[in-house]
Amino acid sequence: MLQERIPDLAKFVEPDRVRREVYTDPEIFELEMERIHERVWIYCGHESQVPKAGDYYAVQIGRQPMLMVRGADGSVNVLYNRCPHRGNMMCGDRKGNTGDFFRCSYHAWTFQHDGRLRSIPMMESGYEGTRFGKDNPDCSMKRAARVESYRGFVFASLAKDGSSLKEFLGKAIVAFDDMCDRAPGGEVEIVPNCFRVIQHSNWKIFLENQLDALHPSVVHQSTGRAAHEVEKMIAAKAKKQSGGNAAPLSYHMLSAFATVTIDKWDSFQTINYPHGHCILTGYMGLRPQDPDTKAYDKIMIKAYGQKRFEEIVGVNIHHVLLYPGLSVQSPLQQLRAVRPLGVDRTLTEIWHFRLKGAPEAIYRRSLAYYNLVNSPSTLINADDLENFWKCHQGLSSDGGDWVTFGRHYGRDLEKDGMVETAPNCGTSEAPMRNQMKAWAEYMRG
Ligand code: FES
Ligand SMILES: [Fe+2]
Repeated sequence: MLQERIPDLAKFVEPDRVRREVYTDPEIFELEMERIHERVWIYCGHESQVPKAGDYYAVQIGRQPMLMVRGADGSVNVLYNRCPHRGNMMCGDRKGNTGDFFRCSYHAWTFQHDGRLRSIPMMESGYEGTRFGKDNPDCSMKRAARVESYRGFVFASLAKDGSSLKEFLGKAIVAFDDMCDRAPGGEVEIVPNCFRVIQHSNWKIFLENQLDALHPSVVHQSTGRAAHEVEKMIAAKAKKQSGGNAAPLSYHMLSAFATVTIDKWDSFQTINYPHGHCILTGYMGLRPQDPDTKAYDKIMIKAYGQKRFEEIVGVNIHHVLLYPGLSVQSPLQQLRAVRPLGVDRTLTEIWHFRLKGAPEAIYRRSLAYYNLVNSPSTLINADDLENFWKCHQGLSSDGGDWVTFGRHYGRDLEKDGMVETAPNCGTSEAPMRNQMKAWAEYMRG
């Protein structure tokens, strides 16, 4: 039935609107997994998640349970989490260390860290004269077709053919450069735990929200306002007591959701690239001239020189979206990986990184932001999750057939293969149009 409908999929996407089934039809979801997530480059994790030989991390690519594992030779492998004997899952835990090799818990076949068969109990007597054994590649754990990493960020593609990771990322690769360059050591390392959030909505609803500059001052207004009230109170108290007038920066991080009003978001800009990648420019003003920032600046200038330092901290990025599976907030060292679980269920893993060589206070500051917008106890994330769920509910109804992306449509500026929003159109829905354009291209096969 699905095959019959494939030729019609083109009718589901118009430049400024999309049929609701794109978000709610389980068969379209299956096809998305096959044609998008199990084909393109998907983020697996950061190399620092698996520092020692045998360290592994389970990761979902499309519908496939995979393992990212560090080999004894230092390379990072990505394998299907499946034993070639009778199909047992190799690792049941989310992460761990396999020791010198994988050992299947069912009949004790063992495998090297790169998936190659190492031993089978009584292999010779059991398999002599059969087609099974070390020479048969079907007796090894299957590897992801392609694995590449960029500045420590590991990606895998389950398709043999396709562009290189660098070609795929194109100019959106700046997400990783911006994050790593802000470290005096030029590298970041993972903060060992992430927030894992299961959203009861389609994966595309989350991605479309990431560069939706219209929503923060609406959805997060009540949270921002409450923080702003407290911020003012604390600042007034500080002034009375000590002559100072500043509340801790963490209040400002939240109050900005109310003080940066809708019209100000229009002064940001979106830049839309091939393959659905997009950037929202604009920086949330989290660089006060306090002693911690000054100490950091000093270390950075020593590492890079004044000119390069200014280039690095002057990069004007709010969010980078790497379609179809990653949203990176590089100036704040956090990313959100999207793992679709079903047509109406999406896992996001939200990771935070430490700038190597930066003062502890700088890490604490970005960690505070990470917690303030992502933790289970923050209202910011809850604000978004409520709308994602409600969107999916509405789209599942017969109340209308289309989702519209018409804001500032027709004003986009095309040049050099990318689409920029016109000045003062920061709340444009160009990023959603760009994502759906890529979606339609992938879905055509
Ligand atoms: S299923 Fe793994 S050794 Fe049998
Ligand atoms: Fe939001």
